[in-house]
Amino acid sequence: MTQHLFSPLQVGQISLDHRVAMAPLTRSRAGQPGNVPTPLNVEYYRQRASAALIISEATQISQQGQGYAWTPGIHSKEQIEGWKAVSHAVHAEGGTIFLQLWHVGRVSHPVFQPDGVLPVAPTAMPVPGKTFILDEHGNGVWGDVPVPQELTLAGIHEIVEDYRRAARNALTAGMDGVEIHAGNGYLLDQFINTSSNQRQDIYGGNIENRARLLLEVVEAVSDEVGAQRVGVRLTPMGRFMGMGDATPEATFGYIARKLNDWNLAYLHLVEPAIVGTVKDEQFDPRWDAIIKLLRDEYRGVLMLAGGYDRESAEQALASGRADIIAFGRPFISNPDLPARLRADLPLNPADGTTFFGGNAEGYTDYPALA
Ligand code: FNR
Repeated sequence: MTQHLFSPLQVGQISLDHRVAMAPLTRSRAGQPGNVPTPLNVEYYRQRASAALIISEATQISQQGQGYAWTPGIHSKEQIEGWKAVSHAVHAEGGTIFLQLWHVGRVSHPVFQPDGVLPVAPTAMPVPGKTFILDEHGNGVWGDVPVPQELTLAGIHEIVEDYRRAARNALTAGMDGVEIHAGNGYLLDQFINTSSNQRQDIYGGNIENRARLLLEVVEAVSDEVGAQRVGVRLTPMGRFMGMGDATPEATFGYIARKLNDWNLAYLHLVEPAIVGTVKDEQFDPRWDAIIKLLRDEYRGVLMLAGGYDRESAEQALASGRADIIAFGRPFISNPDLPARLRADLPLNPADGTTFFGGNAEGYTDYPALA
């Protein structure tokens, strides 16, 4: 049977009645102090509960894992309570929500770190980019990222345990599952890619070693909450935040194959033409083959994201390229995106100036169709 956007899909133990998922979207509007989800955040997710599956904005697993101002966490009591209100609202509307687990690694700044220490990374190499930090008055400003400190083996072990605890907290907060963010140049991706990992120990060098931390995290989180509640997001061939791998087909092929060892909810890939949030106009279409390669290696549900519209999503499903499509920017500006796609109705355009930070404007004020 050919798959299409409005055919049902089984994801772990959950039956989805269509395949229009909401991609994880950082919106930098968590309550202060404490990076706690607020009633405004509850309303934003409630409005989008008609998604087949909502994947929450990236959420730090620990204070060390934070890299941007006003992003939420899932490591304090208050944060768990805040997320509980979100999951309850989504469930009350009949929706499903996974929490995206995030550790930024080197894409951070001492202002976010416990005791103001340097951010951690596989290797003491700085990211060629900036992050959104707070100045001494609490205002958001773009700041340079310092040279990080290389993680010790004990430090790595603590991070695996932080992921485990965060997954448990997510379930306590009523989430249906968690997505491990292993893309976009953040900590797990920094270990995977040769451009940011020059370790000489069991976490660096060959592919098995560079994938080790991700697989240990998958094991710990699956052990804690059940693999059927766990998704993994990768950005194969990603160039965002200084990523680059010497042998991406071999590296990501190995990871996709290894992920078959757990019976995960899904594997989520971002199209390699997308760099962070924008399309790379220099993109070589031959690199597209990585998706097909990973599709062949991975035996479970495959989610794709990155630049999809109604037509390209239907095509990807019909051709077997993917099982489910995640929409990012279209879901920012269209809380009722599934209904609009189903009826082929026009979409509100998204306003990029209100993506990060601020209030209800550009967040909960996009209109649904009457
Ligand atoms: C993103 N993206 C993203 N990805 C992720 O894994 N975790 C995150 O927290 C975020 N945050 C985020 C914020 C904003 C404002 C944008 C626009 C994007 C990437 C996102 O999930 C998606 O992969 C891209 O936006 C491409 O999909 P669309 O927007 O073309 O459908």
